[in-house]
Amino acid sequence: MKLGEFLLDSSTIQRRVAELAKEIGAYYGKELPTIIGLLDGGLFFVVDLVRQLGSDVRVICWRLRSYVGTSSSGRVCGLEVCQDDLRGQRVLLVDDILDTGRTLESASRRAWELGATEVELCVLVRKASSSGLSCQPRWIGFEIPDVFVVGYGMDYCGRYRTLPSLWALSPAEERIQAAERTTIQSPRCR
Ligand code: XMP
Repeated sequence: MKLGEFLLDSSTIQRRVAELAKEIGAYYGKELPTIIGLLDGGLFFVVDLVRQLGSDVRVICWRLRSYVGTSSSGRVCGLEVCQDDLRGQRVLLVDDILDTGRTLESASRRAWELGATEVELCVLVRKASSSGLSCQPRWIGFEIPDVFVVGYGMDYCGRYRTLPSLWALSPAEERIQAAERTTIQSPRCR
């Protein structure tokens, strides 16, 4: 494995997830929202979070793609198949990371189109460069530098997702990625 700098250990992540669940529970009170987990990267985060919100919370997942290797393709694919009826519902979108903001902006727009009455955002990590974006989550687990991260659901071409901690990808691995870039296809929206 070619991991770089160690960023967050698993017990720090789990503690913060528990705090976020408490804050979210307090915000919504008895009227729990529909949680939309964004996959694949948000997989472990959404699972750990919703298990602490009780059995009344409604949970669905949307599978969106925008990244190719370690860079954003600039397009968010997968929204066209998200057809859940959200009429009259308060929605909380849960994702792994806020980077360019395209994923959460597009997913929010889709949730409004599907009839949500409120859309809030929650991310495990926010990259430093995204703090000035107009689309800002109400709940943010951690602030991290502008590095490509893996672990706790986040992957590099499908690898490292199952690591319980969060790591920066090493420059060596990024160089391999650059060399491979020509062979990795951009996601194609249907
Ligand atoms: P945007 O740019 O839309 O990014 O805010 C959000 C989505 O892009 C993926 N992403 C990453 N995945 N390590 C990852 O494993 C990263 O450092 C990273 N940055 C962005 C992720 O899928 C996220 O939902």
